[in-house]
Amino acid sequence: MTATAEKPAEAGAIPSMTVTLKILRFDPDGLDGREAGTEYWEEFTVEAHATDRVLDALHKIKWEQDGSLAFRRSCAHGVCGSDAMRINARNRLACKTLLKDLNPAKPIMVEPIKGLPVEKDLIVDMEPFFASYREIMPFLMTTGTAPERERLQSPEDRARFDDTTKCILCAACTTSCPVFWTDGQYFGPQAIVGAHRFIFDSRDEGEWDRLEILNDKAGVWKCRTAFNCTEACPRGIEVTKAISEVKHALNTGEI
Ligand code: SF4
Ligand code: FES
Repeated sequence: MTATAEKPAEAGAIPSMTVTLKILRFDPDGLDGREAGTEYWEEFTVEAHATDRVLDALHKIKWEQDGSLAFRRSCAHGVCGSDAMRINARNRLACKTLLKDLNPAKPIMVEPIKGLPVEKDLIVDMEPFFASYREIMPFLMTTGTAPERERLQSPEDRARFDDTTKCILCAACTTSCPVFWTDGQYFGPQAIVGAHRFIFDSRDEGEWDRLEILNDKAGVWKCRTAFNCTEACPRGIEVTKAISEVKHALNTGEI
């Protein structure tokens, strides 16, 4: 963020500032007048408040300067998981990143998340990410006759997988993982988080099916404990811890 001197504000008003964003652009069709598929950085300057989010600045650019700028967003409140992007070289949700929390001396660098094919500007193809999620069968698996009432669970049993229920499928973890960037096969941290949520659910009976999937060469043993995933998660999920619990279950047979 390049902040000029803040403009005088009325008492109680939030001061505005001039903010610079450098955005990595990409148009597969060359409609930007460049050779199709050329990547390039483009700089934009907007007026914003320190308490605005990066998403607000992106909206200002799209609505007031360049309608061709492409990015995903939906809820704008950290719930839907659709606006994960690299902001100053770190995966974050644009709707949860305040301008005032970024270095005011430099432009804000905004790029698509890494390791998935870029479709346009900040939009990536999420299909490989969701394909890995589907692999681990993210649904309750049971046998026998369904009970007449809900399947009961003690608070202690519920707490066992509480952390991993918070996942919003934003892909910030998986696309911050150096193994995922280079390996080409690794399911990635989110698929393990998604599996953890059911493996440690006392009502589920598919834990060993999922563990077998994660024991595969594309599975949990690819993790090199880089901790990037835990740092990237906007929901504060202890992703590396969840991965280590799955490894422990595979090593010991204890769930
Ligand atoms: S574990 Fe966290 S970073 Fe990964 S997809 Fe879920 S919410 Fe996003
Ligand atoms: S727009 Fe929904 S999480 Fe950011």
